[in-house]
Amino acid sequence: MATRKIVVIGSDTLRKKSKPVVDFDESLAKLLDDMKQTMIERNGVGIAAVQIGVLRRAVIIEIESGEYLEIVNPKIVKTKGKVKGAEGCLSVPNFFTDVERPKYVKIVAQDRNGQEFEFEAEDYIARCICHELDHLDGVLFVDLTDEGKTYKKQKGVE
Ligand code: CO
Repeated sequence: MATRKIVVIGSDTLRKKSKPVVDFDESLAKLLDDMKQTMIERNGVGIAAVQIGVLRRAVIIEIESGEYLEIVNPKIVKTKGKVKGAEGCLSVPNFFTDVERPKYVKIVAQDRNGQEFEFEAEDYIARCICHELDHLDGVLFVDLTDEGKTYKKQKGVE
């Protein structure tokens, strides 16, 4: 495992759409291991592969203290409700804003071996999932609120 450099806002990479994972091989395992180590080192609660510069649809979320969910090729299949809550991002240092997200989400995804599974989450974990899945399509949480848009303008970043 290796700690990788976090790509920060202003980089074009963060705005690109990540491609599906097709090979469930050693390099995917290494990618996921590196993402996890990098996230832990930086005290994050979620990370998408694009945040270490790899444009593949892979995400890790800490669902409980020390317990990590690996999500490959995820799709949201159901949402319920709406709730506002604070978000931050390893790629947007020292900025937080309240974002409206679904209260409940259900996803279908694959694990590191290609095995498909469903996962349901509410509140904080649902929020993390939505935030990380947005990364796979080049969307950042600062795009979603007026405060975030002001932040981008002030910093001169997109
Ligand atoms: Co983020």
